[in-house]
Amino acid sequence: MDENKAAFEPRIIAFVCNWCTYAGADLTGTSRIKYATNVEIVRFPCTGRIDFMLLLKAFAAGADGIIVSGCHPNDCHYTSGNFHARRRWIVFRGLLDFLGIDVRRIHYYWVSAAEGAKWAEVVNQTVAEIRELGPYTEYKKVANYIEETEAAHE
Ligand code: FES
Repeated sequence: MDENKAAFEPRIIAFVCNWCTYAGADLTGTSRIKYATNVEIVRFPCTGRIDFMLLLKAFAAGADGIIVSGCHPNDCHYTSGNFHARRRWIVFRGLLDFLGIDVRRIHYYWVSAAEGAKWAEVVNQTVAEIRELGPYTEYKKVANYIEETEAAHE
């Protein structure tokens, strides 16, 4: 790994469901399992709520990588929200790729309330992979351009 990538601390935004992954992440803390501190958690009732614009807004806000994580299949608190999220992801992925978004920066997982150790692994693995990719400067350049253009027309 080159020196710049080793020094780079990725900013990861994690969209997690309240009932499984958020509780799992809480268990990581109460179990005193150490893991990378690069992640900012955004709690949702269910991953079925995640939409395309949230992913773009996370990148626009400076994320280098995104985690979406919810209940395992058949464990969703709302029966099928995680299946809807998974289907949406298949559609989003193609659309994001078409728009030039680096889809390697978006990671999708299932983490239950009992999997505190898995949450730590998920975060550590994502941080390592995003660190290897480097800062997501391409998206930030586009986001800054859009912001400046909008400001100029106000
Ligand atoms: Fe966890 Fe639906 S409540 S994914």
